[in-house]
Amino acid sequence: MRRKLAAGNWKMNGTASALSELAELARQLGPDDAETVICPPFTLLFAACEKMRGTAVAIGAQDCHAAPSGAYTGDISAEMIADTGASYVIVGHSERRDAHAETDSDVADKTRAVWRAELTAILCIGESGADREADRTLPIIQEQLTGSVPDGATGTNLVIAYEPVWAIGTGKVPTLSQIVEAHDFIRAQLISRFGKTEGDAIRLLYGGSVKPGNAAEIFTAENVDGALVGGASLKAADFAPIIKALSQA
Ligand code: PGA
Repeated sequence: MRRKLAAGNWKMNGTASALSELAELARQLGPDDAETVICPPFTLLFAACEKMRGTAVAIGAQDCHAAPSGAYTGDISAEMIADTGASYVIVGHSERRDAHAETDSDVADKTRAVWRAELTAILCIGESGADREADRTLPIIQEQLTGSVPDGATGTNLVIAYEPVWAIGTGKVPTLSQIVEAHDFIRAQLISRFGKTEGDAIRLLYGGSVKPGNAAEIFTAENVDGALVGGASLKAADFAPIIKALSQA
């Protein structure tokens, strides 16, 4: 039985005043709700961990450098993230693959760094709109899984987020059958590479324009174990209903 996971990616949003949204979210969650993690910007990690201590809300980062320390001005290592009390790190988000030219091999290095710091990676994959139109979705997913997921993945150290790039921040969502097809394919790939036990234990999140209004339908898919949510994770009033829909799925 995979534990459901709702992950919020705040992206480059939020200053200290946004911590009140975390408190409100924690207040709305009960013991029967899905596991919840919020990934605020680096600047809020320490304060967010402090504020969420003793609550059901875990904290994660949105990226990390592959090295543990060194002359990398402006970068943050997985060890530094662990030091804040965070437990998850998003790696390979399409906005980083795109704006920072991160390759599958960079993402694999970052994932190994996350594991070295004993944190859990939320590794993002997903096809572009052009890939989808050219009917290349599954080959692209396969290529990204092969290139960016390192050996040694387990249900504890890895979560995969399937995020079609064309669905992120656009309000466009794939059909349920497209989501099912992608998630079933990812599950089969993970089982064939990591064996039945670990392949079945790795959680698969759907991401891309998840909102309170469409979450329940998305969560009916057997291999959708939760969501990675951008815009709708910024306010507790939007994210809480998504978490509730997941908890009841
Ligand atoms: P969105 O972003 O929910 O705003 O579409 C999702 C993501 O980028 O993880």
